[in-house]
Amino acid sequence: MKNHRIASTESFMRIRLLGFALTFFVLFTVFCRLAPAQAPASDSPAIEAKARAMLTKLTLEEKIKLIGGVDSMFTNAIPSIDLPRLKMSDASVGVRTWGPTTAYAGGAALAATWDKNFAKELGESLGRDARARGVNFLLGPGVNIAKAPVNGRNFEYLSEDPYLNSALVVPYIHGVQSQGVSATVKHYALNNEEYNRHNVDVEVDERTMREIYLPAFEAAVKQGHVTAVMNSYNLVNGEHATQNTFLNLKVLKGDWKFSGVLMSDWDATYDGVAAANNGLDLEMPSARFMNEQTLVAAVKSGAVKEATIDDKVLRIFRVALRYGWLDRPQFDPADSTYSVADRPIALKGALESITLLKNENHILPLDASKIKTIAIIGPDAWPAVVGGGGSSQADAFQPVSIVAGIANLVGSDVHVLYTRGLPEMNDVFWHTSWEADMKEATYPSKTFSGSPVTSTPHGINNYKQEWWGPADKTPRSIRYTASFKAPKAGKYLVLAAASGSDHYTVSVDGRQIIEQVQVEGQYPESASIDLSAGQSISVVADYLPGFAGNRFGLGIVNESDMISEEVKKFSSIADTVVVAVGFNPSTESEGFDRSFTLPWGQDALIEAAVAANPHTVVTFIGGGAFDTHRWLDKVPALVHAWYPGQEGGTAVADVLFGRHNPEGKLPVSFDRSWQDDPSYQYYYPLKGADTKLHVTENNHSPVDYDIPHVKYGDKLMVGYRYWTTTGKHPLFPFGFGLSYTTFSFSHLDVPSSANTGTIDPNGIQVSFDVTNTGSVAGAEVAQLYISDPSAKTTRPERELKGFEKVSLAPGKTKHVTLSLDTRAFSYWDESTHNWTIDPGKFVIRVGDSTENTPLQGDLTIN
Ligand code: BGC
Repeated sequence: MKNHRIASTESFMRIRLLGFALTFFVLFTVFCRLAPAQAPASDSPAIEAKARAMLTKLTLEEKIKLIGGVDSMFTNAIPSIDLPRLKMSDASVGVRTWGPTTAYAGGAALAATWDKNFAKELGESLGRDARARGVNFLLGPGVNIAKAPVNGRNFEYLSEDPYLNSALVVPYIHGVQSQGVSATVKHYALNNEEYNRHNVDVEVDERTMREIYLPAFEAAVKQGHVTAVMNSYNLVNGEHATQNTFLNLKVLKGDWKFSGVLMSDWDATYDGVAAANNGLDLEMPSARFMNEQTLVAAVKSGAVKEATIDDKVLRIFRVALRYGWLDRPQFDPADSTYSVADRPIALKGALESITLLKNENHILPLDASKIKTIAIIGPDAWPAVVGGGGSSQADAFQPVSIVAGIANLVGSDVHVLYTRGLPEMNDVFWHTSWEADMKEATYPSKTFSGSPVTSTPHGINNYKQEWWGPADKTPRSIRYTASFKAPKAGKYLVLAAASGSDHYTVSVDGRQIIEQVQVEGQYPESASIDLSAGQSISVVADYLPGFAGNRFGLGIVNESDMISEEVKKFSSIADTVVVAVGFNPSTESEGFDRSFTLPWGQDALIEAAVAANPHTVVTFIGGGAFDTHRWLDKVPALVHAWYPGQEGGTAVADVLFGRHNPEGKLPVSFDRSWQDDPSYQYYYPLKGADTKLHVTENNHSPVDYDIPHVKYGDKLMVGYRYWTTTGKHPLFPFGFGLSYTTFSFSHLDVPSSANTGTIDPNGIQVSFDVTNTGSVAGAEVAQLYISDPSAKTTRPERELKGFEKVSLAPGKTKHVTLSLDTRAFSYWDESTHNWTIDPGKFVIRVGDSTENTPLQGDLTIN
């Protein structure tokens, strides 16, 4: 993965020295806050005139300078027109430029809240945090569809559903932009996997794009009035996003009339002239392609019109003028870098997102007064895991781990026992007892051919956690052949790890059990095998280093020996056991995809705990669905905590002990296995179908890239659209989440007919009642799905078109009215290239998940 942004201290230091100016800033800020900072949906004639006047003062070289970034996270300043450099920061879970921050439940966790009001509050908090750091462009929200559970960045995105994403992204953007900060909706578009993200070419038809992958961007532009969009790394139908005519010119700037700045993802530009001509306004983080050398010549030769460059510059000016960035300092001393006021927002998101998936015999909520000893076990119990890895990774000021959250809640009367329960990875490599015949053969080629240099090591333990290394001057491939004798019968874990772009396979008795496929980064790989006492196996590991040196580790361990002694001891003496499993920034991250299975050893850890104490609750941290098949039927309760941000430990404890009634709902369908997922066959590139892309970067020799093709043959059948259309069932359906109370739905009122032409602007009103039928207060998400059985074309069996979160005291009822506009009934007609309604019968269903919709009514559209 890229070396992410070295922290710079400049702005903070300089601003400190300007202490005397603070008083002025404060007064000025008060003035600015009185005037709304929210960028208007369109520009006033005054802004247009000012932008054009500024443009006339620039030379062609200055204009080009403005459309390429500098110092990783800035645009260039143009002192002659008083334009400061504009600062950017990532912010999927917290504003991270630079140093510690308030880390919120963002991305998939936000989606699990299904709370539009919270989306706005989160946006406002992030906007304030950004102003406290002088940030002009917040590099979020990410709204790519969670097409597959293994995508390494789902945790930064929202859900598998375009309607849910759209409904949340609009208030989020309003929140951010109300603080005088531009949101940047990303990654436009079809960046649904981290695997080989720079090179993958997504082959997708227009209807699928318009109905599934583009609506959240469309809502961000048309309803959210977002002032920046970020192009993704990948190609779409043969063109990189940054130079994609269809995405950028036809759809974004044409159909949706986007008037803001279209910037590239970091190093996602491949051709300066093509990008300039196809809508890219700003190349980040530096002008590798859209620079003076390329573009001055291109303007002179007529390959790029100067008016095209002017349009980009004007867009940057307009956004700067809309927010007043030329008239006031972006750093706002009224906002704290660490705001105590934001901690409740961080806690609120965590509480609202935690999703209870299983609660057999009402084992939850736990009763602290009945617990003398609680055992808290597992790698995600401590330290706190606030978010995933990559550019969104935020260091929280005061993160609360699950151990601390529970201990704080139960107080000193309850005995708290904590153990991680699993060894460190290197311990497995160091302590594997290989038989004496191990051989390491280093070949002078990348194909395990030629005469190898051999040695007889005792183990395979060179692993180092590095992303990059020095280039490999001589091609090499390394083959390990070894044998291992099982001292006793049981399950054995085969564990391997390498670094950066290394590749390897591991075979046991001639059968390949592990293959590392990621390109930019990776997580440790493992496989579980059954061995009988005394059984000998032959192991072959073919290791292909991506860089100089050998950074490969391999080990085998008996699974029950791997679990620390304390797990059994603590579990058996505790009244209740909490096993905190899941991912973390090194196993789920930008740059590579994650496994569907839990990280190595964790299945065995749960099995060991529940075997010692059936009163075991599993909590999970991660960005989506995962494999539960080894233990779910043995464990009475499962709590999905997403990436809960800095207050996660407090929130998990509050939910476990009933201080907060769980209200999170799955924003994705939860599969039984990765193979079951509807996108399984349409995710990794078609084997042997790579094409070449020839790229010439200034001052460098041309480079040929391999372009793998991923065919989106699943079309509209993403997530629950597949499950409901096929009549098959995932493990847990989209929209599902348990509560400590119960709700009922009643009194559906749907008009029996409507006319196509008169639906908008008021919409068709559908109303119903939601009642809390249990004995504690709680919140329910009422979900409205529409089916179009008389459509002339194939449509998913049902689609989400409305929802509302309702908080109710026990016994109380709320009457909910949802409004359905024309789009709610439409599909994208490929022949007319437009949205269309087929008149006829529509079915409206209301309930609490795709699989439980007790209310149903028909509506005929004429
Ligand atoms: C990520 C973007 C991020 C950018 C700047 C890239 O690697 O894909 O999401 O905004 O870096 O940090």
